[in-house]
Amino acid sequence: MKIEVFEMERMQSTWENVVDFDMSESGVLPVTLREMTELGFDLERALDTPLTYSQSNGTPELREALSKVYPGSGPDNFEVTNGTSEANYLAALSQLREGDEFALEVPNYMQLWGVPRSLGAKVNRFHLRPDRGWEPDWDEFEQAVNPRTRMVYVSNPNNPTGAVLGEESMRRIVERCDEMDAWLIADEVYLGAEIEADRTQSFWGMSDRVIVTSGLSKAYGIPGVRIGWIVGPEDLVADTWSQHDSLTICPSKLSDALACIAVRQENRDRLYARGRQLLQRSLASFSRWVEDLGEGFSFVPPTAGAIGFVRYASSTPSLELCQQILRNQSTLVVPGIHFGLEGYLRIWLGARPEYMAEGLARLRAELQAGGLVAAAAGA
Ligand SMILES: Cc1ncc(COP(=O)(O)O)c(C=O)c1O
Repeated sequence: MKIEVFEMERMQSTWENVVDFDMSESGVLPVTLREMTELGFDLERALDTPLTYSQSNGTPELREALSKVYPGSGPDNFEVTNGTSEANYLAALSQLREGDEFALEVPNYMQLWGVPRSLGAKVNRFHLRPDRGWEPDWDEFEQAVNPRTRMVYVSNPNNPTGAVLGEESMRRIVERCDEMDAWLIADEVYLGAEIEADRTQSFWGMSDRVIVTSGLSKAYGIPGVRIGWIVGPEDLVADTWSQHDSLTICPSKLSDALACIAVRQENRDRLYARGRQLLQRSLASFSRWVEDLGEGFSFVPPTAGAIGFVRYASSTPSLELCQQILRNQSTLVVPGIHFGLEGYLRIWLGARPEYMAEGLARLRAELQAGGLVAAAAGA
């Protein structure tokens, strides 16, 4: 099985730990192990825990705790994975066959561009329209989701726009998947990172063709433990477990224990509140920063997620622009093209204020040096 390079992840994994300012992230500022102990993680007990294999599909304790997050689910509806990325991967691997069609919402996290293609599926894209508040282009959607379509993927809240689908759009997507007998993978890893809005509604429970994937990396601010999950119909979950056996076997035991603490209702609420507070402050300063760049830059504030998706007017391709910023300012941002949309930059809003201010100053310096921003604007 040959797989194409996942361009966004490759650029990030090459540079994120090397640059002075990594502004390419998308999650809330990561919590520390100390903060996890404050939420109830028993470090002393962990020190004496034998580092055995963990329960492969997630400990009963974790799956029980997760089932409280998704009404109507039970422990057998869950496969606990190494991150949401493994959850998405297993869902695709378990269902897609040569010749199937796969519908992908764009712009998006493009993991499920390369994976379905590597499995011999044809990927049909449908776009979210900026002129319609990032709601889907329904004509494209109906062409993309047809009788040959086996799976459909959306991220909601969406990466990179931070937009959240309206209730009517969610219903329309689910109904079309039902009619076409297609699975809907709703990647909800940014759910809970709402900045002003109420909690995003989950697709879970809207139909028995719905598979939700999620994890701790973004709204919870715990990417380093690498815990994600699939919640879906029991048969499908059993299929993903079979794939999991052959891929990574199980998540780490310590990570499973940390996840048990994080997903408890009271801790989930605390972590989401922590994110909201941070993002409200950073979004205000980020909005001023974009405004100060002057004409030629615009941005629709995200509803959720630590991401600013900024449109720029120059014809410079986004990858070229990001490479210049990387080279000259040792600062990493993500080019729009890595989400399937040219003319945009995605910038992290989840950092500490001082870090973000310096990262944005470097970015501005480069945009100015490249003539995209007038020297006098906002100086
Ligand atoms: C929509 C989406 N899904 C999944 C992932 C990967 O998440 P994880 O760290 O949980 O594997 C990302 C990472 O950026 C993402 O944006």
